[in-house]
Amino acid sequence: MANLEVQNLAKSYDGKTKVLKDISFAVNNGELVSILGPSGCGKTTTLRIIAGLIPETAGQVLVNGKDITKVPVYKRNFGMVFQSYALFPHMNVFDNVAFGLKMRKFDKNTIKKKVTEMLATTGLSQLAKQFPAQLSGGQQQRVSLARALVTNPELLLMDEPLSNLDAKLRLKMREEIRDLQQKLKMTVLFVTHDQQECFAISDKVLIMKQGRIDQFDTPQNIFHHPRTEYVARFIGYDNFITVTAANRQDDHHIKVGDTVLTTVEPNQNAKVLTIRPENIHLNLADVSENTFTGKIISREYLGQSFKYAIHSAIGDFQVEEARQKMRSSGEEVTLTLPAKHLHPLSE
Ligand SMILES: Nc1ncnc2c1ncn2[C@@H]1O[C@H](COP(=O)(O)OP(=O)(O)O)[C@@H](O)[C@H]1O
Ligand SMILES: [Mg+2]
Repeated sequence: MANLEVQNLAKSYDGKTKVLKDISFAVNNGELVSILGPSGCGKTTTLRIIAGLIPETAGQVLVNGKDITKVPVYKRNFGMVFQSYALFPHMNVFDNVAFGLKMRKFDKNTIKKKVTEMLATTGLSQLAKQFPAQLSGGQQQRVSLARALVTNPELLLMDEPLSNLDAKLRLKMREEIRDLQQKLKMTVLFVTHDQQECFAISDKVLIMKQGRIDQFDTPQNIFHHPRTEYVARFIGYDNFITVTAANRQDDHHIKVGDTVLTTVEPNQNAKVLTIRPENIHLNLADVSENTFTGKIISREYLGQSFKYAIHSAIGDFQVEEARQKMRSSGEEVTLTLPAKHLHPLSE
C-alpha cells in the first residue's frame, strides 16, 4: 500500500464559509489513522477530497510523494466504504465484489480467483450466492469492505462504516477491520464520531474541531496528554479548573482559592487544569498535597463504579469510584488530585 500526505487543505462550498482550514497530516504506509470529531466538523469533506469526489479549494493531496490533487477519481486506486453499504441489490455477493474488477477489465479467471480469495479473507465464502436483501447489516458491510479491497487499493477510506450497526456488532466489526488491516498491511483513513471506537483500532487519531486539527497523535498520548480543553472534553475529562496569570505561583504550582495545586507538567501557559473523574481519590489517608474538602451533591450508578458530583470551595468536581465504596449525598469528603494526573492545558 501507500503513504498519504495532505498539505494545507482548505475547502469552502459556497466561497464564503471555510469548512476546512489549512489541514495538514500524513498517514504512513500500513497505518490506520482515524479522524474523530463531532458532526459537521469536516470529516467527510476531508475524506471526499482525498478520494477525488469533490474538488479542494486549496492545498495538495500526495500519495507516495506524488501530487494527485488533480487526478480524477477513477484514476485513483482507492477503496471506499461508507456508512450506507451501497451494494447493488440485483447482484449477488460474488458479483458485487467482482464489480470493480470487471470495470477494470480483468479476465474472467483472474476475477474468479481474486473474488474467491477476498470472500475467504472476509469470511463471506458461504454467502457468495446470496443477494444483499438476504444479508444482515454486518454481512452487508463486510461485502462492501470486500468490494473495496478486491482491487488491491493503495489506500482504504472509510466514512463511519459502523454507524448503522447495533452496539454489539460494532464492537465485533471494528476488531475485524483492525485484524484485516494488520493482516493485509493496509493504509487506512477511518472517519468516526465515536471516541472509543477510534481509540480501540487506530495507530494515530486526528481530532478535528470546526475544520481544524486540534491534536494528531497516538491514542495513548492523546488520552494521557490532551492538548486542549476541546480534546480533553471529547475523550472523557470532565473536570476543569480555570487558571489565570494571577493564580500561578511558579512553574509547578497554582493557587486556587486557599488551595495550592501542584502539577508535574510545567504550567507556564496554563489556562485550565484538567483531571479525569477516575483519577481523583476520596478520603485518601496520609496525604496533604493537592487535597481539599468537598461535599457530595449527587450520585450516579455506572455498573462497575459510582460517579459523584462534588461541591468544593474551588469548584465542582466529577469523581468516579469503585462501587464497593458507595457513598451518600450530603457526605463530607476530602478530594485528592494526584499531581501526575492534573494536566495544564494552554487552550
Ligand atoms: N455539499 C455541501 N454543500 C454545502 N455545505 C456542505 C456540503 N457538505 C457539507 N457541507 C457543510 O460542511 C461542513 C462539514 O461537513 P462534513 O464534512 O459533512 O462534516 P462531518 O462529516 O464531520 O459531519 C458542515 O457545516 C456541512 O453543513
Ligand atoms: Mg460525515
